Amino acid sequence: MGLRGACARRHPDYGCPIAMISLFDTKTPLEPLKGAIAAAIANVLEDGRFILGPEVTAFEAEFAAACGSAESVGVANGTDALELALRGVGVGPGDEVVVPSFTFYATAEAVPPTGATPVFCDVDPDTGCITAETVKAVLTPKTKAVVAVDLFGNVAPVPQIEALGVPVVEDAAQAAGATLCDQPAGSLGLASSFSFFPSKNLGAFGDGGAVVTSDPEVAQHVRTLRFHGSKDKKTFDFIGRRNAARFYDDAGIAEHVTPMVAVDGANPAWHLFVVKHPRAEELIAPLREAGVEARGYYRSPVHKQPAMSEWGSGIELPGTDELAKTNLAIPISPVLEAGQAAQVVEALGNAISALP
Ligand SMILES: Cc1ncc(COP(=O)(O)O)c(C=O)c1O
Repeated sequence: MGLRGACARRHPDYGCPIAMISLFDTKTPLEPLKGAIAAAIANVLEDGRFILGPEVTAFEAEFAAACGSAESVGVANGTDALELALRGVGVGPGDEVVVPSFTFYATAEAVPPTGATPVFCDVDPDTGCITAETVKAVLTPKTKAVVAVDLFGNVAPVPQIEALGVPVVEDAAQAAGATLCDQPAGSLGLASSFSFFPSKNLGAFGDGGAVVTSDPEVAQHVRTLRFHGSKDKKTFDFIGRRNAARFYDDAGIAEHVTPMVAVDGANPAWHLFVVKHPRAEELIAPLREAGVEARGYYRSPVHKQPAMSEWGSGIELPGTDELAKTNLAIPISPVLEAGQAAQVVEALGNAISALP
């Protein structure tokens, strides 16, 4: 029987077909929902309101409730959501916004369009998230907000960062469905931003995003700022991803590599399953040969990007540098089976033993 979500390849030695375990499987989880999705799309076509129509309004209410927050405002994508959230909490020209460098580029990219300056802080290389200590090290009187990224589906320690007396905007693009001390990701700061990019925990058929907040003034501000809406369809797959992460634990992954550590109190919704190994990049090719897709994330962290040189040059972020070199994302999806997880772990073990 073929593996779901896998593409057929030839084993280099034997010429027999082997299955590739892909990093993401955005198609199989949708199979059981196809009927409902087609009906919902038909409703939208019939209704004819394609931007900010009743479907978006209904989604906003459901998503706000799922995030344990009063309001959600649908926007075009996660990058717009972050920029609008920052502007919504009052960030503007002359302000500084603290951001991690070990994150997707969009986190920092969202800051300059507000007129503010990104100030990079380090991450804890075990959790991938910023901490109160790394933020404190770069706070100045000009700091207007801190962007706490819930990296790979982990949840940043937002309450501890807020205790420093600075508003936090949570970049929860990768963490729909995660919790910190039983509070949903996205409900922890003054406002939060989500992406519904197809490979995210809650993926749309295209781009989508939302700003979530319980502050009515921020919500109102963001509603007036938004210029694009999006119609979204969704697949809740949080529990499935957690199961997949458990399969890796059961298969003994920690004997070969170091998995990311949950922030204290967090129940992550692993958007990516990331492990660490000092020679991570060298494992990618042998894993591919064994039929396992793997990828390193943010190898060149944001503060080292040419476009950020004005704000990023000459700063030392050792946790970020360590994680940028050692991280390796391995397959995770709601349909990853225990047998596939074991196959990935075995391939990892083999690839590591074969390193010269
Ligand atoms: C942490 C983080 N922030 C922001 C974004 C931007 O989201 P989008 O691609 O929907 O603009 C992403 C998406 O990749 C992300 O991972």
